[in-house]
Amino acid sequence: MNPRKSDWQNLDLLLKSFAQISSNFIYDLDDKKVAELDVKLIESHLSEAGHDFADVLEHLCDNIIPQLSASRGPRYWGFVTGGATPVATFADWLVSTFDQNLSKDGDSIASEIERQTIRWLCQLFNLPDSFDGLITTGATASNFLGAICARQFAGRRQGINVAQAGMANLSVEVFSATPHASMLKTLGMAGLGYKNLIKVDCLTGSESMDVADLAYRLQVSTAQTKIIIASVGTVTATDFDDLMTINQLAERYDAWVHVDGAFGIFERILEGENLSNGLEDVHSITLDSHKWLNVPYESGVFLTRHLDVLFDSCDVPAPYLAAEGDKPEFMSLGLENSRRFRALPVWMTLLTYGKQGIASWVKRNIDCAKLLADNIAQSPNYELVNDCKLNVVLFRPTCSGLDQQAADEKTTQAMKAINQDGRIFVSPGYWQGKKVIRAAISNWETQIVDIEIGIACLEDIASKL
Ligand SMILES: Cc1ncc(COP(=O)(O)O)c(C=O)c1O
Repeated sequence: MNPRKSDWQNLDLLLKSFAQISSNFIYDLDDKKVAELDVKLIESHLSEAGHDFADVLEHLCDNIIPQLSASRGPRYWGFVTGGATPVATFADWLVSTFDQNLSKDGDSIASEIERQTIRWLCQLFNLPDSFDGLITTGATASNFLGAICARQFAGRRQGINVAQAGMANLSVEVFSATPHASMLKTLGMAGLGYKNLIKVDCLTGSESMDVADLAYRLQVSTAQTKIIIASVGTVTATDFDDLMTINQLAERYDAWVHVDGAFGIFERILEGENLSNGLEDVHSITLDSHKWLNVPYESGVFLTRHLDVLFDSCDVPAPYLAAEGDKPEFMSLGLENSRRFRALPVWMTLLTYGKQGIASWVKRNIDCAKLLADNIAQSPNYELVNDCKLNVVLFRPTCSGLDQQAADEKTTQAMKAINQDGRIFVSPGYWQGKKVIRAAISNWETQIVDIEIGIACLEDIASKL
């Protein structure tokens, strides 16, 4: 008997177990605690001979699955967490079935699907087709590509190919007002050193860059090349930098502009005011599909109008891997050589839901966040600490009469109690030096009823504090 065939003789059985586990998990999500805070792993040694698969499944079902979070559900409001729509989830299942490697063209259509996905994303966000790029593992990975492109660009201006020669002789400074922590991390990884960042002032009461201060700092900088890191939706206050002015300054000082729009870029698909005007003209952009596009982890996007700079930064120096056609291979545009077919869930999402479908859940999330913020503002038990401008609500328990330390302690205690309760999950943040609780609503399924459950939870917790 063909041994390969025999290994797959149990496929029907596997699919049955898969269907059962998946449907149980998804249908039970509403009754599950949103987060499991006190998890317990049964210690055991590595198996020598392996276990019977049925026993492994039993262990998974009895001991592991009950301790997973409901982060794909409508009341997980920590960090900025999208869920995964049925279509994206289905596509992600198929990614494992197909098990393609999108490192190089030449053996399948999969890389073409990724290219088409990138073109559609540019159309979704009203970006010119001069932008190109690739799917990454997330916004951190995309920010890293932004940092190394900016570094390579600085090298080009100074006659140094940084990828080849290193950056020992590079004269460069990075300017930013409110970079996401992942951006700082990647500046470090790119050898630019996040402590060397020139911190630009923010506008009063905001996380947006004070562009007058940027102009001054660029003017006094003695670095030969300048890099500006801007934000389209900061993670705490969801503020937007003034990209039109930043682009003008970048042109004057010949600077590279990288924009982190991990979730804020989705504001561009709504009708009305456009807070990210000027994004069309920046050098590179980060966004996440596993946030507001609601596809499974790990799915980010890096876009640039300067693919040649990305290529110079990431090219794989091995003749046997050189591109055969005129298009650069994905392995020479990103971090990984071997790459999963991550494009498929994004591609199927864009095809199935279209711009209107995606805009409808983005808009609903913003309406839900506003409803939550209004209720918190009216509650005698909580303080809304900042206006809700997009999908993030910043609040804390009422702290009048408490000094800063006592207020921060009360906030931490409230947050723990809320998460322990399990009806919603929220995460911590800092706003203007105060500890706050953040609720970020980015799940396609979140409805008004979920906000009502959340409000009831907050009031129950307040009565017990
Ligand atoms: C603005 C911003 N940038 C970057 C990131 C990092 O994203 P990821 O976890 O996908 O790497 C986040 C995550 O919340 C974010 O909000």
